[in-house]
Amino acid sequence: MTAANSAPGTPPQQQTSVPARSRLRVALIGHAFMGRAHAQAWRTAPHFFDLPLQPELAVVVGRDEDRARAAAENFGAEEWSIHWREVIARDDIDLVDICTPGDQHAEIAIAALRAGKHVLCEKPLARSVPEAREMADAAATAAESGVFAMCGFSYRRTPALALAKRFIDEGRLGQIRHVRAQYLQDWLSSSEAPLTWRLDKERAGSGALGDIGAHSIDTAQWLTGQSIEGVSAMLRTFVADRPVMAHQSGLGGHAEEGAARGPVTVDDAAAFTASFSGGAMGVFESTRMALGHRNANRIEVNGERGSVAFDFERMNELDFYDGSDPDDAQGFRRIQVTEPSHPYTGAWWPTGHGLGYEHLFTHQVVDLVTAIAEGTQPSPTFAEAVQIQQVLDAVERSSADDSRFTATSEPATDGSHTLSSQPKKDPS
Ligand SMILES: NC(=O)c1ccc[n+]([C@@H]2O[C@H](COP(=O)([O-])OP(=O)(O)OC[C@H]3O[C@@H](n4cnc5c(N)ncnc54)[C@H](O)[C@@H]3O)[C@@H](O)[C@H]2O)c1
Repeated sequence: MTAANSAPGTPPQQQTSVPARSRLRVALIGHAFMGRAHAQAWRTAPHFFDLPLQPELAVVVGRDEDRARAAAENFGAEEWSIHWREVIARDDIDLVDICTPGDQHAEIAIAALRAGKHVLCEKPLARSVPEAREMADAAATAAESGVFAMCGFSYRRTPALALAKRFIDEGRLGQIRHVRAQYLQDWLSSSEAPLTWRLDKERAGSGALGDIGAHSIDTAQWLTGQSIEGVSAMLRTFVADRPVMAHQSGLGGHAEEGAARGPVTVDDAAAFTASFSGGAMGVFESTRMALGHRNANRIEVNGERGSVAFDFERMNELDFYDGSDPDDAQGFRRIQVTEPSHPYTGAWWPTGHGLGYEHLFTHQVVDLVTAIAEGTQPSPTFAEAVQIQQVLDAVERSSADDSRFTATSEPATDGSHTLSSQPKKDPS
């Protein structure tokens, strides 16, 4: 008996000339913001890239029948379901793509890996270090049988950032000294913006820190090849309670007039300095309350010979300073990252015809499918995501201890610390 239901109006599965063995059948769990981004990626990637496997969006899984059915129809998936356990038990599913809030990641990922399915899990991997470790243990066991897991730090797949990494790997910046990373959004600026799962520590793990700061941590470590060994941090919650949400839409949602208010249990903003393994120092800032900044994911890296600077709000551009330029020509140059010689871009449009947010997820699918077909471990691994979780944990511990410098390697004893420690309230 199959758990999933055929989407009404969906034609019977088409026979194609693609041999069955080269298909990669995907179950997508969660179909809202990330679910939509991933769904388009699974469908688009094989049309623009020469993939070694043919991905098929087989089943869309949600919590509500009507919405799951509508999503499956909208995404062009074959089936829908509201029972993820039954879906991952199916023999005809090869990969489970987890696009749910953080409180669902561990249970679904571990079950899927034990069922022999490859897993793509959204970031941050988990809500705490112990939870992330359990997931990484399951991934390590699965990898012994050629079943792989990857965490969705999607900004790595931005062509301009991949070009920055190429420059750093080629030594064009020399020894890295500084990392300056900011991730600034403003959708929570109003104190009347309603409570969403992102403001609930039990569901999200942390606030701006894990939601967007985790991207900065991953990008910084990936670009430099250095890991963060310790932090000195400050977390703030500026709005202590918010109206209970009636309807979610996008990142936020709507509350009824006069709705009861509930507590915000995560940070609104995080700031920390960081010490890197290779001797670099970093300054990080993340907030969802920086009015005027919609999605300013910025990073600058300074080395002994050059610098790179990136802002996602100009995602097709990389600023590069080459210290070996002649004196009379020195200055940051703006590289439009749309050349066929740049990472990923050759598969798309003629030079100068830029890419958008959704392309990150398409590139993520390309890299994941290629690694699976080659039998190699895709990155970022769950183990890498555990280390990022350790940085998040150290930030929380440092903030709770008057910003004391805190090593990321200090063991988190159990999940209770991360889930119970509260950010400081705004003293005003
Ligand atoms: N990579 C990125 O840039 C990026 C961006 C945004 C969000 N995220 C991450 O993606 C994940 C999802 O975030 P989102 O913004 O898409 O959230 P969302 O609230 O928009 O969507 C969550 C979806 O999960 C579904 N869901 C929840 N519990 C479920 C269950 N038990 N079974 C089936 N479906 C379930 C909901 O119905 C909904 O469809 C989070 O981990 C978030 O941190 C990553």
